[in-house]
Amino acid sequence: MKQICVVGVGYVGLVTAACFADLGNRVIALDIDEKRIEGLKRGEMPIYEPGLAELVARNVHANRLFFTTSYSKALEKTEFAFVCVGTPSGVDGEADLRHVAESARAIAQHMKEPLIIINKSTVPVGTGDWVADIVRGHQVNEIPFWVVSCPEFLREGSAISDFMSPHRTVLGSLDREAAEKVAQLHLPLRSPIMITDLRTAEMIKYASNAFLATKISFINEIANICEELGADVKEVAVGMGYDKRIGPFFLDAGLGYGGSCFPKDVKALAYMAAEKGRHPQLLHAVMDINNDRRPMAVNRLHQMLGDIRGKSIGLLGLSFKENTDDMRDAPSVDIAKALLALGAKIRAYDPVAMEVAKPMMPEVEMCPDPYTMAQGCDALLVITPWNEFKQLDLEKILGLMNQPVFFDGRNIYDPENMSRLGFNYLGLGRGYNSQKTDNTLTHVPEATASP
Ligand code: UGA
Repeated sequence: MKQICVVGVGYVGLVTAACFADLGNRVIALDIDEKRIEGLKRGEMPIYEPGLAELVARNVHANRLFFTTSYSKALEKTEFAFVCVGTPSGVDGEADLRHVAESARAIAQHMKEPLIIINKSTVPVGTGDWVADIVRGHQVNEIPFWVVSCPEFLREGSAISDFMSPHRTVLGSLDREAAEKVAQLHLPLRSPIMITDLRTAEMIKYASNAFLATKISFINEIANICEELGADVKEVAVGMGYDKRIGPFFLDAGLGYGGSCFPKDVKALAYMAAEKGRHPQLLHAVMDINNDRRPMAVNRLHQMLGDIRGKSIGLLGLSFKENTDDMRDAPSVDIAKALLALGAKIRAYDPVAMEVAKPMMPEVEMCPDPYTMAQGCDALLVITPWNEFKQLDLEKILGLMNQPVFFDGRNIYDPENMSRLGFNYLGLGRGYNSQKTDNTLTHVPEATASP
């Protein structure tokens, strides 16, 4: 049993702490937010993540997981400190490293024995060296320490299974032995472990997120072209995905990427490149395409409804993606704001995000279920592809609406079926094609779902 401290109990930190505890380690999770720590001690989760509350409870009960606000308690007899603090965007897109610096200073002042400091937060290339300088500069006594980068690749909504079954573990350090020790902690996960230098590890995280964001913007660009040429982007993605060099994942056209990672990380990578005098054209195109998706959704609704003023529009889903209540950079916020500015009345339903969303959009009427929401609506707009929306009683929905306008921003319904039911349905990138046959997708697995 190793003793681990996890600094920062946000998404990454809380999942890391709970999962390492579940692997049999003694984990002390630290946060400077007393309210959050007190809540966790009472078993209250600060975020919605499937399975997390149960995992935390099990490990607290087994005396493997503890919560504290005290660095000196957290670092007593601790060999590994995972830094999982937030790195929000600064004014120009650069990463704001305030919390990383604060935690490095606090670790330096309270560490009592040799310590491996492992950075899991997404930080600009070169931050590991900078953290080492901060720790060196703030140590009370000269105690050996090593800095290792171990970027996190988990996704919200499937964070626990992503942590427990990662595609790979990347470790970057200037000290091979320190990296090997961190590798030992990850052995139970049975994933390939790559050891490289600090800067390369930090870059792997940005390059991975930027590449995934590029796939999304790419398929959204193809969706726009499909609409003009009468092809169906969903089937195009399936056909492309069978090529192993392309792969079927992250090819869902829709309202673009949101959340706390892709928007911030693509911007930060572009900023790092620009700072060194490079013009990262592709990254700018990825961001431009993504930025167009939200106004595009508003324009489409405008076209479908004619005048938006006074119309009642229902939003199916609010969170930036399914299985989370995270509203950070969620398309719903911009879309609701734009529709309200055009004079629409907005109603919404989301299985878990309404409580978080309400203060962000006070004018929006939150409804207890999709059917109450659809009552009297002139249009519905799918924003988040929650599974429960795929099973709606659509005939009932149709009967409740004032007008049958249905804009599917995540392509979760079959256009022909929706038209057959009587909806004036519009998906994205699903151009009208008179040659289309009914059996095009027969026997094809749902290929664009994530692994
Ligand atoms: C993303 C990465 O997938 C993780 O590997 C990474 O660890 C994480 O960022 C991070 O840096 O912390 P996450 O933001 O939780 O994870 O969510 P994703 O599932 O990647 O989705 C991001 C956005 O892209 C969502 O808005 C989603 O709706 C959108 N998306 C995703 C699409 O529009 N199309 C797709 O095909 C896939």
